[in-house]
Amino acid sequence: MTAQLIDGKAIAQKVQNEVKEKVTARVAAGKSQPGLATVLVGERVDSATYIRMKQKACDNLGMNSFHRPLPEDVSQEELDKLIKELNADKKVNGILIQLPLPDHLDEERALQLVNIEKDVDGFSPINLGRLAQKGREPLFVPCTPYGCIYLLKEVGVEISGANAVVLGRSNIVGMPAALLLIKENATVTVVHSRTKNTPDIVRQADIIIAAIGKREFVRGDWIKPGAAVIDVGINEMPDSSKKRGYRLVGDVNFEEAKKVAGHITPVPGGVGPMTIAMLMANTLHAAEIQE
Ligand code: GUN
Repeated sequence: MTAQLIDGKAIAQKVQNEVKEKVTARVAAGKSQPGLATVLVGERVDSATYIRMKQKACDNLGMNSFHRPLPEDVSQEELDKLIKELNADKKVNGILIQLPLPDHLDEERALQLVNIEKDVDGFSPINLGRLAQKGREPLFVPCTPYGCIYLLKEVGVEISGANAVVLGRSNIVGMPAALLLIKENATVTVVHSRTKNTPDIVRQADIIIAAIGKREFVRGDWIKPGAAVIDVGINEMPDSSKKRGYRLVGDVNFEEAKKVAGHITPVPGGVGPMTIAMLMANTLHAAEIQE
């Protein structure tokens, strides 16, 4: 059996096209252009790349982006001041603080300061708390987990009643992905660095979301035949045939997994483009609720 490939790039493009149409209609109706503020502290190369991709997506969809870089050694007071300023700025509908922040800064405090109506990353404790509670709805769902669930739905994977295994418990992906799957009525197990029998637990899963940042960690013989595999990992694998000396691989051994899984996302071209598409959808939603 060969798994059906989940084309994240194409699905993300479809989401972006829908957002663009709505933005165009908004502006034609005399409403404001949605605006996203991006805050980058320091000069991490990966973070700077992600920010550029987010700004470019805003440009392509007719949204405003406001980039607010801060030096690596910025004080907590200066960061707090910027967040408050962005909270008060009517042109800014969404605020994204690129993570991780340098160690001397208090991430929890910064995320807590973001107005929940502008929290397009869904990382404020209020939005995350609502995600964790029955009968409550967050204003925004974190973009990567939101993208993972969107992909599953798009290809017709039944989430309700499914056994789902999430590998990893990060604040950005693993934990909110598990909460979102519970909201969608899956039965969820989270495995992590202290889990004792990971392969046996993964073998029970109808849905696997791998977000641990270990290249090709999940092997083909851990996968239940027909399972849906969503690979969030982006890892470098040394490869002398490539000009840059490496290729990108996920947290799942793709060649093994595709022989067993029912659906699988590639890396790159799976979850990655969805994160940006969902951020754009969240930014449009922010503009809509702030009218
Ligand atoms: N760092 C890695 N992923 C993300 C994300 O989705 N949002 C933010 N703000 N920072 C990140």
